[in-house]
Amino acid sequence: MANVVVVGAQWGDEGKGKIVDWLSSRADVIARFQGGHNAGHTLVVDGKVYKLHALPSGVVRGGKLSVIGNGVVLDPWHLVKEIATVREQGVTISPETLMIAENTPLILPIHGELDRAREEAASKGTKIGTTGRGIGPAYEDKVGRRSIRVADLADDATLEARVDRALQHHDPLRKGLGIEAVDRDALITQLKEIAQDILPYAAPVWKVLNEKRKAGKRILFEGAQGALLDIDFGTYPFVTSSNVIAGQAATGVGIGPGSIDYVLGIVKAYTTRVGEGPFPTELLDAEGKPDADGQRLGERGHEFGTTTGRQRRCGWFDAALVRQTCATSGIKGICLTKLDVLDGFEKLKICVGYELDGDRLDYLPTAADQQARCTPIYEEIDGWSESTEGARSWNDLPANAIKYVRRVEELIECPVALLSTSPERDDTILVTDPFED
Ligand code: GDP
Ligand code: IMO
Ligand code: MG
Repeated sequence: MANVVVVGAQWGDEGKGKIVDWLSSRADVIARFQGGHNAGHTLVVDGKVYKLHALPSGVVRGGKLSVIGNGVVLDPWHLVKEIATVREQGVTISPETLMIAENTPLILPIHGELDRAREEAASKGTKIGTTGRGIGPAYEDKVGRRSIRVADLADDATLEARVDRALQHHDPLRKGLGIEAVDRDALITQLKEIAQDILPYAAPVWKVLNEKRKAGKRILFEGAQGALLDIDFGTYPFVTSSNVIAGQAATGVGIGPGSIDYVLGIVKAYTTRVGEGPFPTELLDAEGKPDADGQRLGERGHEFGTTTGRQRRCGWFDAALVRQTCATSGIKGICLTKLDVLDGFEKLKICVGYELDGDRLDYLPTAADQQARCTPIYEEIDGWSESTEGARSWNDLPANAIKYVRRVEELIECPVALLSTSPERDDTILVTDPFED
């Protein structure tokens, strides 16, 4: 029985949510293993739109176990709201269908405040363009050993001691940024209140998943963000604060690395990025605004963030980057999404490598200043005038679209396992079933 990890192979928003939802019909358990509600995963099922941030995309299908693993940072107030929103849309959520790892660190209101205060105070060139959700500060507290974790909510004395420990760190930091000291008692009261809503879902996830695995159940791991936002392998420091790559799936729920059989990389047929940081194939005019092709990609692709509503930066497909992320995540096959957005372009460009100081590189160098100076080397390929929107089989694709897909496979050195041709769940072409491969 195969377990499948789905990860983003670019800068996020590749269409992970749609594909996790589609694949979830084949799985028993769907687990988030990193990130937080900085994620925004959009699902469209029979015209109905679901926007998920903290909840695994498996919740929408029903009858599956959804899991929030310890690798996630969880804002309990946000989660309660998100559960209420999807319940209004007709989704059933109960402790039988949703489990939260007891060792999951919490995002507190002070984390969001710190995140936003730092971004506001950042000088030009150092702003990251975070989602402002407190993700970075929450992960800092986790490695700093001062997090409040889900299990701490069950005991008042422990909770108060954990809050005091956290505030020893946060109050001086807040003072330096000109933010008032934390109202300790109010925070404790807030936490005790939210505990009632969260504790029913708390479980030893590592144990449950190991038992499921032994019983032959299939686990689908849902990544958030994309490999180029990975804390180690991304475009540091313009990254998120977690490991995003597939290796994190095992650590992020407490299951051995041998339990992962197939890594599916989600890859957009072009490239987008939200927030600051280098982006070699970004399509800009002389004034630094999106050029005609960039605007067209953004408009056709509806490239506005699910979480913050920010306009996404757009560019041509970067095969050098995806070849690199296929390697760092051990991607076995990709799902190429949003092919339909490229319909009607006369010519398409694909980046095959970079030029830096007169040298040709086949990967993005590590140093931030070098990344910023890399200029893309393009290959031009003919576009297609026909529509691929909603195509559900290879036979529905124009010859030039197939050529584009084949060229992408060659350049990234990885095969296409799935193709997506619209936001709708079933507008998906299956080439290789990741669960059966
Ligand atoms: P995620 O963060 O990786 O889950 O991706 P997002 O949901 O943030 O962004 C992807 C957007 O593209 C969503 O609005 C999806 O509904 C939409 N989408 C997904 N696949 C396709 C596709 O094949 N074609 C088109 N046109 N839109 C798609
Ligand atoms: P999904 O799961 C795209 C980006 C932010 C910012 C950087 C750091 O929908 O693909 P953070 O708030 O995490 O500290 O911000 O990471 N970012 C994303 N970009 N999609 C996401 O998630 C993202 N999550 C974070 O824009 O540049
Ligand atoms: Mg998204």
